[in-house]
Amino acid sequence: MQGLKAELLRGCWYLAMPAASLKRHATVAKTLLGEPLLFGRGDDGKVFAIRNTCPHRGIPLQYGRFDGETIMCTYHGWRFDRTGTCVEIPSLREGQTADLSKIRCGNWRCVEQQGLIWVYFPRGDEEPSGDEAEPPRMPIFGDDVGPKLTITLPFPCSTDHAAFGLMDPTHAAYVHTSWWFKRQATKLRPKEKKFEPADYGWRMVRHQIPPQNLAYRILGREVSTEITYRLPGLRIEEIRGNKHSVVGLTAITPVSDEATEVWQMFWATPAWIGALKPLLRKLMTIFLDQDRVVVVRQRDGLATSPKLMLINDADTQARWWMHLKDEWVNAGKEGRAFVNPVKARTLRWKS
Ligand code: FES
Ligand SMILES: [Fe+2]
Repeated sequence: MQGLKAELLRGCWYLAMPAASLKRHATVAKTLLGEPLLFGRGDDGKVFAIRNTCPHRGIPLQYGRFDGETIMCTYHGWRFDRTGTCVEIPSLREGQTADLSKIRCGNWRCVEQQGLIWVYFPRGDEEPSGDEAEPPRMPIFGDDVGPKLTITLPFPCSTDHAAFGLMDPTHAAYVHTSWWFKRQATKLRPKEKKFEPADYGWRMVRHQIPPQNLAYRILGREVSTEITYRLPGLRIEEIRGNKHSVVGLTAITPVSDEATEVWQMFWATPAWIGALKPLLRKLMTIFLDQDRVVVVRQRDGLATSPKLMLINDADTQARWWMHLKDEWVNAGKEGRAFVNPVKARTLRWKS
């Protein structure tokens, strides 16, 4: 079990931000996986990410000026292109030479897809390949369709504890209580769900949502859901009715080994859902904040390095998460293909 810190996975795509957060001719500085990144969008609309540190004296490049093509450092005016390579040192005089192509800040592969910006953190110098050549894709919706609504909150916890919260089937009755939702944990009901391995993770097999669940009626009749969990911290829920579909994504992106950004968003086919945005944003933020408050409190306990437990069956998914991570790290070290350790199983609990 993990304490305050988590081992951060490399060789993966991480969700950096919604595409709408990065305007043309602008940059956004962010620390991800403990590294300082400067994201930018050129005048041609293409996104990029370079190290937010000038290789001359180390000042963050975010303080410089971006002209839509190159970034000029605020200190001595060195200029860097979108690959982080130096293209100009203004102080050089005729006859003074420097191989500018060797002066580099470093950059990350960055892709815009389905209204999101993804960034690839390699293990070494390797390029993403195979199934991982491109960022994960949400089902149903096309590459140019963005989420209807996106929220994010900073969680002061490791990705492991954020991930455990994501896949924890029994906390809702205690944590997600509100006068308009569930006032307090009352009667817990027995639950039984089938799980099977899926790409880089596992899936709760598609099942019908009981018709008495009124909120889902807007999608039509015979509404069913399937939830996929995968490395490096994505929960993708695909809800289909005979009229409409919704895809929900929760993504956790490590800021450092003990701080995490949690993103929640959804894509939806009904056009009129836009009208509900203010209300939905409010409700989603209340729910996510309830999870955040728990990890803030948990942090005080974890600071004393207690021995922790994972129990059957309620914490089986948390155990799978740790097994997946271990296998990912080991496969990388040994230079072999990742073998999914999850086996199909039915899990039972009360919640
Ligand atoms: S520190 Fe950036 S140009 Fe000198
Ligand atoms: Fe929760």
